[in-house]
Amino acid sequence: MFKEEFPLLAGNSLTYLDSAATTQKPEAVLQRLDRFYGKENANVHRALYPLGDGATASYEESRTRVKHFLNAPSSREIVFTSGTTGSLNFLADSFGETLSRGDHILLSEMEHHSNLVPWQMAAKRYGLILDFIPVNEKGRLDLSGMRRNWHEKTKLVSVTHISNLLGTVNPLEEIIDFAHGKGVPVAVDAAQSVSRLPIDVQELDCDFLAFSGHKIYGPTGIGVLYGKEHLLERLSPRFGGGSMISSVSLEESTWAELPQRFEAGTPPIAEAVGLGEALNWLESRGRAGISQHESLLTAYGIEKLRSLEGIELYGTGEEDQLGVISFNMGGLHAHDTVQFLSAGDLALRAGHHCAQPLIRKLGVPSTVRASFAVYNDTSDIDRLAEVLAETMNYFRKKGVL
Ligand code: ALA
Repeated sequence: MFKEEFPLLAGNSLTYLDSAATTQKPEAVLQRLDRFYGKENANVHRALYPLGDGATASYEESRTRVKHFLNAPSSREIVFTSGTTGSLNFLADSFGETLSRGDHILLSEMEHHSNLVPWQMAAKRYGLILDFIPVNEKGRLDLSGMRRNWHEKTKLVSVTHISNLLGTVNPLEEIIDFAHGKGVPVAVDAAQSVSRLPIDVQELDCDFLAFSGHKIYGPTGIGVLYGKEHLLERLSPRFGGGSMISSVSLEESTWAELPQRFEAGTPPIAEAVGLGEALNWLESRGRAGISQHESLLTAYGIEKLRSLEGIELYGTGEEDQLGVISFNMGGLHAHDTVQFLSAGDLALRAGHHCAQPLIRKLGVPSTVRASFAVYNDTSDIDRLAEVLAETMNYFRKKGVL
């Protein structure tokens, strides 16, 4: 769908199946960035001249777009960050600081390192204890394990919406219901879900939610942390500097209102504007249809790869797998497989996918990962299957597999 709107892909023989790493950008986003730098560039929240007013208006308009996109109650709850990693590092450190030594944080075994390492750092710094929701052999979160590993001092749950390694869509509603029943807030890593599933933070009732612009057809260097206002009000800034203050004396400072107090210095202005355009683009193309498209592609991909001999697939293989398929071929190392795929003009990621605890649980050193986006279609998956079959034949003839 809409492949012709993506200049890097249109008329190119490349089969791009690495959108879980980063998505390609539609012409509309590229043009918006061009227009911003070519005609609108000025710093924001400072300048008292029309160019500066215009840049500020565009930057804040993007915040409003994010608010609408997530159906957040207020723009005060939308903090621009450098990406999901930036959002989660800020949250772990700032929320961690509000806790007492011996308090617990509940994560899951399927987290990307960006929703694990910052909590490990915060745990060391503030004397916190990390617990984990286990992953079962099907690649799903084991919710009975969540209940077992719950501690009376659990103060926050932080969990991914969709696994970047397996594509498992987690039952956030059940997790949030359970945690809220205990009076505990829930943070969601939506890096892999924001482009694939319509997200309504009020309906979901999550307390924090993080995502990156570059995984939703927008620029790199921009991300979002949504937080319920009363919770954001409890957090203190990590960075001090321009824009985030109310008043400054030589001895001390007071903070600006939300969300500015968390956006010290010159923010990624063009990137925020580009993100706003990307959200606009996605909405105008129909979020529900795009979500259904990815779901059909995932099902088609699973079926196609299952039909090939010698492919080992990981993940649920059912309706709760979306946008991502991880696999290995015969006894080949994933890195070798992607080299062959690359020679066939296919772009896929191989490795531990920044999820080492989960890959260890799978009992393999690495996987090959195919991941989809709006511009992929079944012919991309057919091409993948074709080159995999050729590679398999090549190694069989050599007696390697
Ligand atoms: N988080 C990105 C991935 O899973 C980079 O590939």
